Amino acid sequence: MTNKIKDILNKQINEEFYSSYLYLALAAFLEKQGLKGAANWMNIQAKEENDHALGFYRFLLDRNEEPVLEAIAKPDLSNIKNIKDVFNAGLKHEQHITACISNIHQLAKEEKDSALESFIKWYVDEQVEEEANAIEILDKLNLAGHEGSVIYMIDQELKARTYIPSGPYAAAA
Ligand SMILES: [Fe+2]
Ligand SMILES: [Fe+2]
Repeated sequence: MTNKIKDILNKQINEEFYSSYLYLALAAFLEKQGLKGAANWMNIQAKEENDHALGFYRFLLDRNEEPVLEAIAKPDLSNIKNIKDVFNAGLKHEQHITACISNIHQLAKEEKDSALESFIKWYVDEQVEEEANAIEILDKLNLAGHEGSVIYMIDQELKARTYIPSGPYAAAA
């Protein structure tokens, strides 16, 4: 494995753990607002991001490389005032992650690393779903506007989400 690939995969471990950290912080914000359903949704999102990080961790080990775990940045919630800001922040973050994954895919092709190219495909597909999920919830929140009763209904709906292990190795685990 080239150093360039090693570096980008270690960086992505950190990106995915940061995603988990960000969603966990957003879950806490939502629960403090009395939105336990939305908090549940975000909590599960945090767990899935942890799985995504471990996917890269496992891939490095399987390729005989040692993963490097760097410090995780503090999520900045200073611009988050309501549930709509929460899901907007989530979508913006997922768009950033999509760009990261796309860069890894590009590099795999440039360096002719077929194993990485095959591995990263799971993440490419996952990002389409991640963005679609955030957009779907944002659309509903936009329809609801400031209608408290509708936001309550959306919160109830988000309560139904359950955790299913996520990541390229989840099915085999
Ligand atoms: Fe992820
Ligand atoms: Fe994600």
